[in-house]
Amino acid sequence: MSNFEVIIYEKRNDIGYVTLNRPQALNAYNLQMRDELCQVLGAIKDDPEVKVAIFSGAGQRAFCAGADLSEFLTAPSPVIARQVRWERDVWGLFLSITKPLIAAVHGYVLGSGIEIALCCDIRLASEDAQFGLPEAGLGIIPAAGGSQTLPRVIGRAPALEILLTGRWIKAEEAHRLKLVNQVISRHELLPAAERLANKIKAYSPTALSCAKQAITSGLDLSLEQGLQLEAKLASCLLTQYPPISK
Ligand code: COA
Repeated sequence: MSNFEVIIYEKRNDIGYVTLNRPQALNAYNLQMRDELCQVLGAIKDDPEVKVAIFSGAGQRAFCAGADLSEFLTAPSPVIARQVRWERDVWGLFLSITKPLIAAVHGYVLGSGIEIALCCDIRLASEDAQFGLPEAGLGIIPAAGGSQTLPRVIGRAPALEILLTGRWIKAEEAHRLKLVNQVISRHELLPAAERLANKIKAYSPTALSCAKQAITSGLDLSLEQGLQLEAKLASCLLTQYPPISK
């Protein structure tokens, strides 16, 4: 187990467990968390012993209540510029991981909280989860990829409504909008995520990586280009694992 200051990272049975760990501040995302998350994401990406990862939040009240307001509203502008560049790298790194990533979210899932969940592939939410993007009300816009990842997951109109009005949505609506894959009781949230991770990790890591790339990269391509990508990935897999001749 690696204990950073604001993230707990554990590796058990091929699964990486990432816990945002600032429960006293509702796991608000601060600079320290950004630095530690960057290290953890690098480890998940490069460590062959990690086949799938689960992201969750410590404490009873929140997965993550967004960016740490006490930090980013007081930072001088050159620092903000550096931070934005840095953050782009963190989110770029997050989205470049081709291993399956599961978010298990509860309580407040706001701002960067939603954005972290959107960098994952499968989102499980507990019944008490509440989602919101308060950025517009603060005079800013999401800067952790949310303006791009949210519409790609739930579509343009609902994403615009959530962003422009700042309206919070509860778990059931998030499920209806396909922002989350499943809604689960609070005490079952982590066990359910772990069952899912155990099922996924039994499959070939290369096949999983190709499947993830085919869908995530393919969505940004035309159908024709997407089909070419699929053919390329399928042929790479066949070269690596030729079919067993009978
Ligand atoms: N940044 C820094 N600290 C935060 C935080 C954030 N985004 N969200 C919550 N906290 C801290 C509070 O300051 C408080 O700390 P304190 O106990 O030292 O005073 C602690 O977490 C508990 O939050 P509190 O506001 O007392 O809980 P609540 O139940 O009354 O309200 C929220 C919960 C989520 C509605 C409220 O904390 C909130 O609106 N947070 C900001 C959400 C936000 O705008 N995020 C930024 C998105 S860009």
